[in-house]
Amino acid sequence: MNITFEKVDIHNANHKKAWLDFSLNTDAKKEWMIRKPEQGYGGPTDPNDFEENFSGISKYAESKHSYLVKLEESYIGIYDIHINHSQCRHQDGIVAWPGILISKEENRGKGLGKKMFLHLFNTAKKLGCTHIEAAPFEFNQRLKDILLKYNFKKIAEQKDLTFQDGKWYSSEHYLLDIRNLD
Ligand SMILES: CC(C)(COP(=O)(O)OP(=O)(O)OC[C@H]1O[C@@H](n2cnc3c(N)ncnc32)[C@H](O)[C@@H]1OP(=O)(O)O)[C@@H](O)C(=O)NCCC(=O)NCCS
Repeated sequence: MNITFEKVDIHNANHKKAWLDFSLNTDAKKEWMIRKPEQGYGGPTDPNDFEENFSGISKYAESKHSYLVKLEESYIGIYDIHINHSQCRHQDGIVAWPGILISKEENRGKGLGKKMFLHLFNTAKKLGCTHIEAAPFEFNQRLKDILLKYNFKKIAEQKDLTFQDGKWYSSEHYLLDIRNLD
C-alpha cells in the first residue's frame, strides 16, 4: 500500500476538495466533530472554512500543522497537530493536540492508521513537542484501545462534550510523553 503525506497547501484546489469531502462525510463527523443537539452535526461545510482553517488568517490556524494522506492517487485521510490547544489539560512543555481521520470505514483497520500515527509522532517531535495529548470521545473505543496500545495514559475527562443518538458523551484525555521516543 503506497501511502504518501502532503502538507496542507492553501493554494491547492485538490486539497480544498479533499478536506471538504471529509468534512461532509457524516460517518467521519460522528467520531470527529463536537455537536450540540441544536446544531446537528457540526463541522465545516463551506469552502471559505478551508482558508479560515489553514491560511493563518485565524488565530487557530497559526499553531496548526496539517497533513493530507494519500493512498495511491486518492486522498483518504488527514491529521493535524495543534500546539498547546486551549483544551489541553497537560500544562507543562510543548503539547501536540492531534486530530486524526481516515474518512471511510473501508480504509480503517488495515494498518494505514499506524503509518499516520508514526508520521504524526515524527512531526510532533520535529515541531519540538514534548507531549501528545489526545482526547477521543468516550464512545470511540477503537481509538482509546489504540492510544493505550501506544502507551498513552488517561489523565482527565471532560463531561458532556458531544451529543450523539440522544445522549451526551464526555471526551477522555490521554497523554504520551514523547521526549524519549525514537
Ligand atoms: C483512528 C484511526 C485513524 C486508526 O486508523 P486504522 O487504520 O483504523 O488503524 P490501524 O489498522 O493502522 O491500527 C493501528 C494500530 O492499532 C491497533 N488496533 C487497531 N484497532 C484496534 C483495536 N480495536 N484495539 C486495539 N488495537 C487496535 C492495530 O493493531 C495497530 O497496531 P500496531 O501499530 O501495533 O500495528 C481510524 O480508525 C479512524 O480514522 N477512525 C475514525 C476517526 C477517529 O476516530 N478519529 C479520532 C477522533 S479525534
